[in-house]
Amino acid sequence: MDLALKHPVALVPTMGALHAGHASLIEIARKFSPEVVVSIFVNPLQFENPNDFSTYPKSVDADVALATASGATKIWVPTFDEIYPSDPVLISSGEIGNLFEGVHRFGHFDGMLTVVKRFFDLVTPKYAIFGEKDFQQLFLIKKMVAQMKLPIEIISAPTIREASGLAMSSRNQKLSTTERESAAGIYLALNSAKAASDLKSARIELSNGVQAIPNFLQDYAEIIDADTFAIADDSTENCHAIVAGWINGIRLIDNMAMSNLGNSK
Ligand code: PAF
Repeated sequence: MDLALKHPVALVPTMGALHAGHASLIEIARKFSPEVVVSIFVNPLQFENPNDFSTYPKSVDADVALATASGATKIWVPTFDEIYPSDPVLISSGEIGNLFEGVHRFGHFDGMLTVVKRFFDLVTPKYAIFGEKDFQQLFLIKKMVAQMKLPIEIISAPTIREASGLAMSSRNQKLSTTERESAAGIYLALNSAKAASDLKSARIELSNGVQAIPNFLQDYAEIIDADTFAIADDSTENCHAIVAGWINGIRLIDNMAMSNLGNSK
């Protein structure tokens, strides 16, 4: 396949249903290169739940308009066969891939790394931009790039939030108005934890804040070491809170640096 690209390329991989968060990734990509490729591919390998895959929002025409307006020079919507011409050999996300999101979405990160590596092989970007909202994903992609010594710079982009503080996500459009209001409670809980003066109080604030969210079915709410993904302790330099759960079957995840905590302050 010839994508006829002008290198160096900045790649923004997406699964479509683009929103302002993706627009910001594309705008950041433009700062790195005049050639910005946005891929739109809903990767079945990273869905552990077939219903989540089949109901994943799709809006290709609107996506093309948003990506173009944000500065994309090529919008690439590959077919399954283009990405996986033969049976894919899964890339292992290792021990860290089996923590947190990996516990609740078994196999998710292996499928995610496998498709990201395929994008890298096919597009050969110099830069690839990923949002900090998917914090564990970003961590694992950086790790893969380092381990495989890929000549790609991974650029991380800040989470874009709705006015309520709810992290933007393609899945948010499945939430009702009331559910959306509830979901904003995740941001409040993260901020309460961030305002705490020590790790122990931060954990209590996080836990209480998350438990107070109406109709939120928590998978995890934890403070980890952002450099290793281990559970944070008093010697941790970069404490980071991560939260995930469900409202009415819709998965929500978010995270925040606990810059007030940790040894580096
Ligand atoms: O974050 C996403 O949208 C997906 O996990 C990605 C990186 C495009 C891989 O399918």
